[in-house]
Amino acid sequence: MDLTTKYMGLKLKNPIIAGSSGLTSNLADILELEKAGASAIVLKSLFEEQILHNYKDKVSEVNLGEPYPEAHEYISRHTKQRVLEDYLDLVSRCKKVLTIPVIASINCITPYEWPSFAGEIEAAGADALELNIFFLPSDPQRMGALIEENYIEILNQVLMKVSIPVSVKVSPYFSGLSNALLRFSFTGIKGMVLFNRFFSPDIDIEELKVTAGPVFSSPDDINLPLRWIAMLADRIYCDIAASSGVHDGKALVKVLLAGAKAAEVVSICYTLGPSAIGKMLKFLEDYLQRHNYSSVSEIIGKMSLRQVENPADYERVQFLKYYSGIE
Ligand SMILES: Cc1cc2nc3c(=O)[nH]c(=O)nc-3n(C[C@H](O)[C@H](O)[C@H](O)COP(=O)(O)O)c2cc1C
Repeated sequence: MDLTTKYMGLKLKNPIIAGSSGLTSNLADILELEKAGASAIVLKSLFEEQILHNYKDKVSEVNLGEPYPEAHEYISRHTKQRVLEDYLDLVSRCKKVLTIPVIASINCITPYEWPSFAGEIEAAGADALELNIFFLPSDPQRMGALIEENYIEILNQVLMKVSIPVSVKVSPYFSGLSNALLRFSFTGIKGMVLFNRFFSPDIDIEELKVTAGPVFSSPDDINLPLRWIAMLADRIYCDIAASSGVHDGKALVKVLLAGAKAAEVVSICYTLGPSAIGKMLKFLEDYLQRHNYSSVSEIIGKMSLRQVENPADYERVQFLKYYSGIE
């Protein structure tokens, strides 16, 4: 059975990528994921915010006053360099021992200063770069169009710095989601990851405290990316990888049928361990066999919006049947 797929120009031995998380922040866990069958890994993101945070910690630690602006400048550069060196070191160590592609990841919100890091990540040997861009659109004064322009500016800046394939990992929080993602795909990126998962606040009603919502996804989370993958797979100019809610082989088959070239899995690797990957691959293989396919590529996009008999099924948004008995 041919399980290979091509995602953002990378030839993958199967469609399961170990997504970015704490499990991809160190070589030991990464090796486990490779052993379990992952066809590529996305490293834990290097956060723009994390770099700045490190800088602030360092400055307050040595308690420099305003009279030493050049020292601030030195420490700022030095601390950023350390974080970056550790990251580049992880990239090159991974490249030395892994046989699967290594996708670096940067979480960013501005097109300033950091895109030159992307060039260094490429030089360290990364096979591709995933940009995790997210602004919570919480400012009522900020127009959606400006937010989208910022995405495009970031993508353009990074694409100018590297020749490895670049993908963007996005949220569904755009009012004109299809148009925004189409325009992102015009930049020349090779992949898009639908969708990222975010920290969500919750409320403790006894203690009246804001707490953390669930960290891991649930199997139901698959339905949101599934719709958008199916709607966009034939319409945007780059490959799609699914993310959020791929917990088993069935969900994997669904996102491939919808048009994803691969799926990035995380929560299930935390909750069941990396062996979940092997189980999903086994299901995929059995499914292909049962339906007389000989390769994964035969099912990719078979249920995309353009392929299904009734495309309106993907566009339907109201539960009419449940509210009024009318279908
Ligand atoms: C503990 C944890 C850490 C994560 N860290 C990152 C990260 O550094 N960068 C990133 O792009 N996504 C990160 N994610 C999001 C995952 O890559 C993934 O998009 C999300 O968990 C949805 O996939 P899943 O349903 O398979 O978990 C993290 C997720 C978890 C649970």
